Amino acid sequence: MKDLRNYSLAQHNTFGIDAKCSRFIEFSSVAEAKETVKNISDEDMPLLLLGGGSNLLLTKDFNGTVLHSAIKGISSTFIDGGVLVRCGSGETWDDVVAHCVAHGWYGTENLSLIPGEVGASAVQNIGAYGAEVKDIIYKVEAVEIATGKSCYFTNEQCEYAYRKSRFKEDWKNKYLITHVTYKLSLVFNPHLDYGNIRAELDKEGISDPTAAELRNAIIKIRDAKLPDPKVEGNAGSFFMNPLVSKDKFNELLKKYPQMPHYDVDDTHEKIPAGWMIDQCGWKGKTLGRAGVHSKQALVLVNKGGATGNDIVALCDRIRSDVEKKFGIDIHPEVNII
Ligand code: EPU
Repeated sequence: MKDLRNYSLAQHNTFGIDAKCSRFIEFSSVAEAKETVKNISDEDMPLLLLGGGSNLLLTKDFNGTVLHSAIKGISSTFIDGGVLVRCGSGETWDDVVAHCVAHGWYGTENLSLIPGEVGASAVQNIGAYGAEVKDIIYKVEAVEIATGKSCYFTNEQCEYAYRKSRFKEDWKNKYLITHVTYKLSLVFNPHLDYGNIRAELDKEGISDPTAAELRNAIIKIRDAKLPDPKVEGNAGSFFMNPLVSKDKFNELLKKYPQMPHYDVDDTHEKIPAGWMIDQCGWKGKTLGRAGVHSKQALVLVNKGGATGNDIVALCDRIRSDVEKKFGIDIHPEVNII
């Protein structure tokens, strides 16, 4: 177990912002998670539960305690119609995808190369290329911070929605997630009809991909569009794609017939924030040391030495421009501290 004071979080956030926390505790087992919650007192508050830091923007030092899981391990049990894959919350998500693809356990391929850790996958309901992790989450195990008791939640109890779960709402800072179990299939039933997956496979002359080939195609698509945080600090999509009413959507479509959109339900439509930011002319532009990625306008980047407030200033300018042009208030997906 690590228990450090006045600790720099520079290595714990993919924006690469050098902010400190008063206390940093890392636990490597359920027993250590229980010991951790026993050891924290009122003066250690507030808490910040941290995964890989790939969805976090620090604007100042955090005068509280950061808790991080380093619980590792991937184990599997075969059940009727599939396999249950139980992973430590500190496992790197993409290592889990690689492991599952290599073993012929299917359902994670489209979520290849999403940065971050297993615990956060269950908090954030990570998603990409037509898939969301909620579709494969079977069970989430945790330690209750107030009591130190072990508990678990079913998928339904977590109330998953787009980039959302109860862990971000009424369960915020109440549980340390220790393990997540995913239910995967032993039959490969790929989802290829999203964005440019088929176009990418076509380039390789593949019409009927294996899971490894699909994973490789997704990795290539992501690599081409999304900046590597080791080279240029970023947190993937900075904003969520907004849901708008059908009325609002129809009004916009008249003005922008080329506008991409996704049907959500009978009353709502989702409009890509990246497209709106691009239409506002922000793609590839910078504001001080913060910038908008040149290949995907939804991603804000640290151009070198940016502070959290530099990124927030850019975020505010973009929000205001999108509001003026489209009458839509877009919201950060990133957790701003
Ligand atoms: N678009 C533009 N200009 C841009 C960016 C996008 O015109 O600069 C257009 C695209 O041409 C496309 C549409 O907007 O018609 C959507 O773009 P894209 O397919 O790249 O996906 P997105 O909606 O911008 C979402 C997720 C990503 C995920 C991709 C692929 C959110 C907030 N983001 O982005 O997730 O990888 O779909 O499925 O839902 C993340 O959460 O960090 C993330 C990268």
